[in-house]
Amino acid sequence: MTESIPVARRLSAVKPSATVAVAQRARELKAQGIDVLSFSVGEPDFDTPAHIRDAAKQAIDQGATRYTAARGILELRQAICQTSAKRRGGISHDPTDVVVSIGAKHTLFNLALALYDEGDEVLIPAPYWVSYPEQVRLAGAAPVIVQTTEAEGFRMTPDTLRAAITSRTKALLLCSPSNPTGAAYSGEQLRELADVAARHNFWIIVDEIYGQLVYGGFEQKSILEVAPELRDRIIIVDGVSKTFAMTGWRIGWMLGPEYVAKACDKIQGQATTNPAAVAQYAALAALEGPWAPMEAMRKAFEERRSIIIEGLNAIDGISCRLPEGAFYAFASMEGLIGRRAGDQTLETDIDVAGYLLEEARCAVVPGTAFGAPGFVRISYAASNDVIREGLKRISEAVAKLG
Ligand SMILES: Cc1ncc(COP(=O)(O)O)c(C=O)c1O
Repeated sequence: MTESIPVARRLSAVKPSATVAVAQRARELKAQGIDVLSFSVGEPDFDTPAHIRDAAKQAIDQGATRYTAARGILELRQAICQTSAKRRGGISHDPTDVVVSIGAKHTLFNLALALYDEGDEVLIPAPYWVSYPEQVRLAGAAPVIVQTTEAEGFRMTPDTLRAAITSRTKALLLCSPSNPTGAAYSGEQLRELADVAARHNFWIIVDEIYGQLVYGGFEQKSILEVAPELRDRIIIVDGVSKTFAMTGWRIGWMLGPEYVAKACDKIQGQATTNPAAVAQYAALAALEGPWAPMEAMRKAFEERRSIIIEGLNAIDGISCRLPEGAFYAFASMEGLIGRRAGDQTLETDIDVAGYLLEEARCAVVPGTAFGAPGFVRISYAASNDVIREGLKRISEAVAKLG
């Protein structure tokens, strides 16, 4: 037999997505007929609103079946510019500043290839979305993890940012509201970070994919709006997946300096060409409105947030801060670590997540996957009944611990 041919060395530092691994184990249990409640995935449980689905069907019949410009159709890029200006304090972009990609994940990957060279450092506050450090590594650069604490609301402070900056810093990747913590920065907090960044010269990439999902009257702000003088260094990442329950359509985008858009367009032109034409028309319909179905989903998430946070905090050994946005509870499991499940001691958040899957039949993601050991992420993109049932099961499983 011939020896197997190795895959490229660049893969050796890259981890597979941990969130996908948990979902896979939950699927295996489900396939065995075990009734597992999934709190592990990052997608709304709602269907894409009907007017968006109808617009897509119509688009197919009207010929949206061919290649488009690699960076996306002009009408969609115009709508993205208009929506962005409305949401970000009137700071405007031109359609030439926009590249539409196959989801915001693809947008971020394009940016990693377009902006980072070997030896560059990219600041990533932890807890972080799992793909950020891996994409930086795939581009040959080095992720620099900036630890935040629960006591600081999982937000980077000006001091922690200042301490992490070096002459090699090429970018800061900010996510607000955040996956996995749901934490969001206020306008003042963003202004303080901007003051630190202003003394240096690196990209500020802001992932605002959860920007429309904020609760309890929290005022969502973009660093672009609070620090418009930095606009030549700010790149906005956004998309339709979370706000409009459109994960499967795969549409995301960047808005930033024209030359960065051009670089992303060049990469995309050689990698994938355009995102599916029909999905672009669906995204256009989403941005054009009506907004009532989206507001109904946001309200549902807000109600679920109350149920789950209250329920988790009522369980002895678990505590959870109230997140400002997104649809995740990021709960501390420190009170369960060291406790015994039969002859096993729960030593880490990974053990706790494993225990909750096997004993409570609830799939959650260990915080270690997000650079935050001791926590688990519980997605509340599930119905009120499923959330209540999950809380009951978790509470019963915790009560069994020695
Ligand atoms: C923080 C964050 N950014 C980007 C994405 C990518 O979204 P999509 O590729 O579906 O647009 C996700 C999805 O989970 C996310 O949580």
